[in-house]
Amino acid sequence: MTKKITLTVNGERISGDVEPRMHLADFLRERLRLTSIHLGCEHGVCGACTIFINGEPARSCIALAASLDGADIRTLEGMKDDPLMVQIKESFHQEHGLQCGFCTPGMLVSSWDLLNRKGKIDETQIRCDMSGNLCRCTGYQGIVRSIKAVADTLPEKE
Ligand code: FES
Ligand code: FES
Repeated sequence: MTKKITLTVNGERISGDVEPRMHLADFLRERLRLTSIHLGCEHGVCGACTIFINGEPARSCIALAASLDGADIRTLEGMKDDPLMVQIKESFHQEHGLQCGFCTPGMLVSSWDLLNRKGKIDETQIRCDMSGNLCRCTGYQGIVRSIKAVADTLPEKE
């Protein structure tokens, strides 16, 4: 049995029928071709599938699409003109914040949330707050450096 859901995805309202066990990542990737959402563990551990659900960063691999009728969804595709995201992407490029790139969309979304909330932060805070995103290439030095370079340009917030 399927359920009809309506979501706002990157500012557009979309509807679709979903199986009870379909997770949001599959719905967004397979139906809407939002392939910035990467699936690593599919157990809520690695953070590769991180997107915004109702303004909060969330793991789309453990969010059931059927339970999210009416939700507001934002993915990396919907942030391409966001000034902070543009700055973060440039920094990942300049500071070698990616190797294979598999973890990168989740890293970008999580670091956007962190920098947007906290502004200027130090390396320890970055490592602590980003600990929910895993990089299978173990490229953490470059990732942290990329985020720190942006943080250094921002005002303190908290
Ligand atoms: S794929 Fe969702 S947390 Fe790993
Ligand atoms: S760059 Fe390869 S998983 Fe992080």
